[in-house]
Amino acid sequence: MPHRTQRKSDKNPAQLDRQYIWHPFTQMQEWIRTDPIVITSGKGAILTDQWGRKYIDANASIWTNLHGHNHPVINRAIHAQLVKISHSSALGLANEPASYLAADLIQMAKLNRKRPRASDSSKKPPPPRQPELTKVFFSDDGSTAMEVALKLHFEHQRRTTPKITPRYLSLENSYHGDTVGAMSLSHSPLFHQSFRKIRFKVDRIMAPYCYRCPYNQAQAKRTDARSSRQCRWECVQQIKERIETAKRKKQPYTAFVVEPIIQGAAGMIAHPKGWLTKVARLIQKYRMQLIADEVMTGFGRTGPLIASHGEGIQPDFLALAKGMTGGYLPMAATLTTQAVFDSFLGPYDSFRTFFHGHSFTGNQLGSAAALANLKLLQSPRSTQQRKHLEDWLENALDRLWRHPQVGDIRQAGLVAGIELVKKWQTREPFPLKEQAGIRVCQALAKRGVLTRPIGNVIVIMLIYTMTKRQVDTIVAALSESIKEALPL
Ligand SMILES: Cc1ncc(COP(=O)(O)O)c(C=O)c1O
Repeated sequence: MPHRTQRKSDKNPAQLDRQYIWHPFTQMQEWIRTDPIVITSGKGAILTDQWGRKYIDANASIWTNLHGHNHPVINRAIHAQLVKISHSSALGLANEPASYLAADLIQMAKLNRKRPRASDSSKKPPPPRQPELTKVFFSDDGSTAMEVALKLHFEHQRRTTPKITPRYLSLENSYHGDTVGAMSLSHSPLFHQSFRKIRFKVDRIMAPYCYRCPYNQAQAKRTDARSSRQCRWECVQQIKERIETAKRKKQPYTAFVVEPIIQGAAGMIAHPKGWLTKVARLIQKYRMQLIADEVMTGFGRTGPLIASHGEGIQPDFLALAKGMTGGYLPMAATLTTQAVFDSFLGPYDSFRTFFHGHSFTGNQLGSAAALANLKLLQSPRSTQQRKHLEDWLENALDRLWRHPQVGDIRQAGLVAGIELVKKWQTREPFPLKEQAGIRVCQALAKRGVLTRPIGNVIVIMLIYTMTKRQVDTIVAALSESIKEALPL
């Protein structure tokens, strides 16, 4: 008689995985035919599988890891918290690490405001409004951080201007998560199309995707056909017109939702410098609120700790997740202003409470990891290393232009997207069914480099402790993999 319960040693983890686990964003019909890489340990930027094979983690474990795996400082912080308590509820109770973390996040998210000097006679328009972020609402991941932002905006708007129905405007191809609210704010045709009937309506507007800009097709070249000097910012004009039309129809937009500086899951669409500032001016002019989804871009991915600050912009809502705990534990936060907070205040029976929360809100282990992460992140050593990494990546990526299948290379800080095309001269995309991106990533894995594509775009996301050698290895392996997987 076989035992009813399977003993651990009876099957290897790959078999058990194929038998029981349903993986995210994965065609399981293909998955169950493959032999998955089973990760058993990690150190720094290196992941090790059950057979002892080593891989460079070139997408920072789906954009979460900052300082490397198994980092002694974060390990110690988690362990020190673990022996005190792992979790107690934030409903009706406060806790130490979450309180310290909230204070640190507010400090980190302070915008260094540059006041114009009295003697400054330049005709530059004043910087857009820069609200101060004073409150933190904790949640579990990027999607929930965005749900919180959208619900807070909705309620705040309803309470402060009851005659106007809150309406959101967001960018084409944007991705803000997979819960229904976050999906509604998103416009990813591939991911969310089949759920369109359960999403609420959010209007979509042109994104500054320069490589495929319809106003930028004059001469297909390797880089943008027109330099930004020649660009007439038609994309910003479209946003302006859309906002004005909605206002004329007396259905104004009240919030603009954006992944600042670079749109991640859209295919690493790096925005041209100045775009965010121009859009922030419009938002200010039309009295809308800015919801910044910095789930991917936060914590130094694009250079500054908060990507929006790179253009001197402070949003009304700032959603943070992924890198918040250094990529150790699921935890997220939505930061907002005193004005938003105040609109929820009132006597108990006014029921102005924000009726929203999650079981693990303000979790102690996550908070302890996040505190250690922030300390590492703000150390001069990490700041310096990130600057080096940005340069090393830029130099290494330059070598990829020689491939005819490389249409565009987009880098923002320590993040890059390499868009593969049939031929750079025509910019013709590979049909998705050809799985060009997947094939290249499979070839990369054979060379000991792990990442995941977004359609035809290969993502590189550096871990902040990587060495120059590791950066060069990633890019050299990518170069070989393009040649192998996409023969001419
Ligand atoms: C910009 C952005 N927002 C939101 C999310 C959703 O985050 P999560 O997967 O943690 O729910 C993601 C995930 O990739 C993201 O890139």
